[in-house]
Amino acid sequence: MTGTATFDFTGKTVFVVGGTSGINLGIAQAFAAAGARVGVASRKQDKVDAAVATLGEGALGYAFDVRNFEDVAAALNDFAAQAGKIDVVISGAAGNFPAPAVALSPNGFKSVIDIDLMGTFHVMRAAHPNMARPGALINISAPQAVQAMPFQVHVCAAKAGVDMITKCLAIEWAPDDLRVNSVIPGPIDGTEGMDRLAPTEKMREKVVQSVPMKRMGNPEDVALACMFLASDAGRYVNGQILAADGGWVAGGVTLPM
Ligand code: COA
Ligand code: NAP
Repeated sequence: MTGTATFDFTGKTVFVVGGTSGINLGIAQAFAAAGARVGVASRKQDKVDAAVATLGEGALGYAFDVRNFEDVAAALNDFAAQAGKIDVVISGAAGNFPAPAVALSPNGFKSVIDIDLMGTFHVMRAAHPNMARPGALINISAPQAVQAMPFQVHVCAAKAGVDMITKCLAIEWAPDDLRVNSVIPGPIDGTEGMDRLAPTEKMREKVVQSVPMKRMGNPEDVALACMFLASDAGRYVNGQILAADGGWVAGGVTLPM
């Protein structure tokens, strides 16, 4: 985590929903390395415990399903009670699988909407009363929010909605001294999301070649974008959708499916 030395979050509190694996765990670890007291949450207690063990002194973990608002609110309330008002909340829990629309059941579509879109609203809604002022909220979006893709109708619909939540809350909560932004990760190597969308070496290579910077990203690349938005460097940035993607979205993403 070399780049994280650029930022200092000593004395700050950061809560990462979905922060127990992949990109979001990398984000949680980057904030912890920069001095923050971190909380993470996801469904599986074993993943929560393993993540907390990597997050330094005072880290707290919660097992909940982001689809259940009461559980999300209870966890954020508890974290704020124990660690103090929350400076940064990151909402990144998500589900994805490739499926042609004609073979996708309504419940399959709904599952992703419930996790990604409803889950984002649940986290934002539960975070608001627990935020420090000034405070920063960041939603983890995806290229699917801005680029139509085959076999991704459920994810495209959900993540486009996530970015609209970002923009609406950015406007509504600016008077509360809260900023709300989205970060769109590019293709991030070694993650569940990439493994599901590009499961073979040939597909991976096609993805790499489709990125203008000719490499996949890593969780730290995404963490640095989050830290910029959450830091004083981003103090006038509000309602933005920031891609940390090597130019992938700008170039027009085509998944190799
Ligand atoms: N293709 C088509 N439909 C699928 C599917 C697939 N690969 N995987 C799940 N579904 C459908 C199921 O058939 C079910 O619909 P049905 O009741 O009509 O049969 C529906 O989705 C819900 O499945 P279920 O397994 O009960 O969902 P869940 O709530 O336990 O899990 C998922 C949610 C499906 C998104 C699961 O993949 C998950 O937990 N993902 C988290 C990790 C992840 O996706 N990481 C990448 C982040 S980008
Ligand atoms: P990941 O490792 O599967 O991370 C997803 C996290 O969310 C895990 O901690 C998971 O833990 C949790 N989670 C899933 N469903 C949940 C639920 N219902 N309630 C609570 N927690 C839940 O995936 P990733 O690939 O790193 O993706 C992380 C984020 O980046 C996602 O928002 C994704 O859309 C976005 N993204 C990823 C890529 C990529 O290249 N991977 C690209 C663009 C955007 P549990 O299983 O314990 O619940």
